[in-house]
Amino acid sequence: MTMKMKMWVIVLFLMPLTHSHAQYPAVQTVMSQKGLNGVTQWITGWLQNNISTILLPEVRGNVDIGIGSVSYVLHDMTIKRCDLPETSVVFSEGTGISLKLYGLTISISGLWNTQFGIIHDGGSFELSVYSISLVTMLELGSDEERLTISTVSCSALLGGVQVNFHGGGSFIIQPFIDMFSKRITEEIRQKICPPFEQGIEALEKHLAVMPDAVNVDPYIYMNISLTDSPLVKSSGLGLSVKGEFYSITSPSEPPFSSEHFELPWQEDYMVTVGISEFCMNSAAYAYYCAGVLSIHITEDMLPKISPIHLNTSQFGLLIPQLPKLYPDLPMELELYASKTPLFTFKESVISVYVLASVKAFAIKTDSVAVPLFRLDMESSFSGKAYTETQLLKGALEMNNFTMELGSTEIGEFQTGPIEQMVKLAISTFALPKVNAYLKKGVPLPSVKGFSIASSVTSIENGFLAVALDLNGPSDDWR
Ligand SMILES: *[C@@H]1O[C@H](CO)[C@@H](O)[C@H](O)[C@H]1NC(C)=O
Ligand SMILES: *[C@@H]1O[C@H](CO)[C@@H](O)[C@H](O)[C@H]1NC(C)=O
Ligand SMILES: *[C@@H]1O[C@H](CO)[C@@H](O)[C@H](O)[C@H]1NC(C)=O
Ligand SMILES: *[C@@H]1O[C@H](CO)[C@@H](O)[C@H](O)[C@H]1NC(C)=O
Repeated sequence: MTMKMKMWVIVLFLMPLTHSHAQYPAVQTVMSQKGLNGVTQWITGWLQNNISTILLPEVRGNVDIGIGSVSYVLHDMTIKRCDLPETSVVFSEGTGISLKLYGLTISISGLWNTQFGIIHDGGSFELSVYSISLVTMLELGSDEERLTISTVSCSALLGGVQVNFHGGGSFIIQPFIDMFSKRITEEIRQKICPPFEQGIEALEKHLAVMPDAVNVDPYIYMNISLTDSPLVKSSGLGLSVKGEFYSITSPSEPPFSSEHFELPWQEDYMVTVGISEFCMNSAAYAYYCAGVLSIHITEDMLPKISPIHLNTSQFGLLIPQLPKLYPDLPMELELYASKTPLFTFKESVISVYVLASVKAFAIKTDSVAVPLFRLDMESSFSGKAYTETQLLKGALEMNNFTMELGSTEIGEFQTGPIEQMVKLAISTFALPKVNAYLKKGVPLPSVKGFSIASSVTSIENGFLAVALDLNGPSDDWR
């Protein structure tokens, strides 16, 4: 094969790889119809509570009463009563959300002023608007990897209006109320959709400036941009999120790429979230790049009951030549991941494969650290994970642990006894501590104002699925 041909073969083989790289979402979320019902309930509940605090804009206009034109202004209006009927809010396959509301009745009270020529008049009024219906369609889409929402259509109808004017020389206008009512009915009808559309526009503006990344802690962030347009089915809304973690200080692509996974849509839960192996592994890689997967161990960090003490005399039991070369010196260890820990989700089990090294130093009286040796360790752990309401719990066990001498400044020695000792320390000291922590549970990440009512977690092949029911937001939600 010529050099040129070889190049082409390589390019052809790499093309599908580079093309698929980071294309698949690492996180998928689905909101079911149950979830949409919940959101609708929260919003209507909030509206019911807050309706009296909503400020209505002034209404100004002119009515021709045959002998001239009366200009009027209705102001300082507050909503006294609002009966929200059952609303139908459903996903509309391929488009977005269809909202239909029938038979809404609103009672408003306020002040009126009229001017007819030089005659000024004023007083108070009550207005009831019957059988309002609102039919609208919202479109969900994406723009530059962000979720977008817009009003495709909105139409409003009014059953009727009843007005009572009080005060002033209201007898002057009372005869024209019929005319007035028709006018106001039309005006109100025209005024229903615009604020609704403005509300959706405001929401859209809010979405447009949402950051496409969230910081998880001081070390890593997650890219939450969308990899695809939202998928709207009649049973729910699916969002595909990039879901890749990066180190804040040194972001770079990991040497592995995301794979496709199929998250089952669960209709019995409001929200389902799927987290792929790639998502977990990119977090591990991000921490690795951020340089936080290392720990400096000194004697005072070891438990009193530890059989190993960090000094050269004690280590003499394991490495005979050490106390001869460096008698009675304290020691320190540098433990670090030598490669990114690798997670796999398979057959209901999470496994993690860890390659780590430990460097040992003797600390001389002038606090100079003398390198002694490096041990390379290969280990694998596996565990189960489950959720109990708001807590993620689990249990971890060690499958495998091997150790070998990586390099030495003090000559060869047997690692077997050290391996046995570390293995014992992990299984009798470290793991029980970790498991006690996992048994108590780690709080699931939550959105401000919401709390998790119930949840169920399952480990599938290649991903973790968490299905959730959420409690409505607290009163200060907006
Ligand atoms: C109205 O909503 C606000 C938050 O937007 C909240 O603080 C307030 O308590 C609500 N008012 C009522 C009467 O529920
Ligand atoms: C997130 O990922 C998208 C798509 O790869 C990219 O365009 C965007 O710049 C990324 N944002 C951050 C903050 O990394
Ligand atoms: C080393 O450890 C042994 C046993 O715990 C202790 O008796 C000795 O004093 C220690 N030496 C130093 C230098 O810390
Ligand atoms: C432990 O590691 C060895 C060598 O890497 C492998 O052959 C063995 O299957 C592993 N055992 C378990 C329980 O994972």
